Amino acid sequence: MNETLKSIRNRRSTRSYLPEQIKDEELKAIIDAGIYAPSATNKQPWHFTVVQNKDLIDRLSDGFKEIARKSDNEYVKKYGENEKFHVFYNAPTVILVSGDESNNYASVDCAAAVENMLIAAESLEIGSCWVGFIAYLLNSEEGKEFVKELGIPEGFKQIHSVALGYKKFNLTKAPARKENIVNYIK
Ligand SMILES: Cc1cc2nc3c(=O)[nH]c(=O)nc-3n(C[C@H](O)[C@H](O)[C@H](O)COP(=O)(O)O)c2cc1C
Repeated sequence: MNETLKSIRNRRSTRSYLPEQIKDEELKAIIDAGIYAPSATNKQPWHFTVVQNKDLIDRLSDGFKEIARKSDNEYVKKYGENEKFHVFYNAPTVILVSGDESNNYASVDCAAAVENMLIAAESLEIGSCWVGFIAYLLNSEEGKEFVKELGIPEGFKQIHSVALGYKKFNLTKAPARKENIVNYIK
């Protein structure tokens, strides 16, 4: 297996991080991998907001939990009510990926950017987790002040986010993959 395939295979969602910040050059390489993702008709309809301010990351988590507690969705509500839960698992870096609201493919293109960043992080032995939950806050009425504080551009909507940091534990076991999901026609 080459190094790229190893990074794809070894990547796991990391939910425990060391408090130490990742290096600027590592962050830059990860963002670069996101920016070089494919996008429909090469529109690159994304914006990346990097947050390394612990106070803001914690307030975003608290804001999400407040919304989650009011949710009709029992699965989401449970996270809001869990005192120990942190939406970014106390990761020292968070990348919020927002998409151009006028672009029909923004969600797909931003997902491609996220996946590139997760694989790039793994290749640098940095833990990552794709965090969709934060959109509940940032796309809500209550999230508007945060959107302003974060400087998410006008016309862009929060789509995905990535938690990043050095791994507290080395996870290797992937959740089982479904079987019979490939047809070969030769
Ligand atoms: C669109 C999307 C949203 C996700 N949102 C969250 C999230 O909010 N919180 C979380 O802990 N994991 C989230 N995940 C990670 C998945 O739970 C994880 O990828 C899945 O359980 C498989 O585990 P693995 O990443 O270790 O292979 C998300 C993944 C995707 C693709």
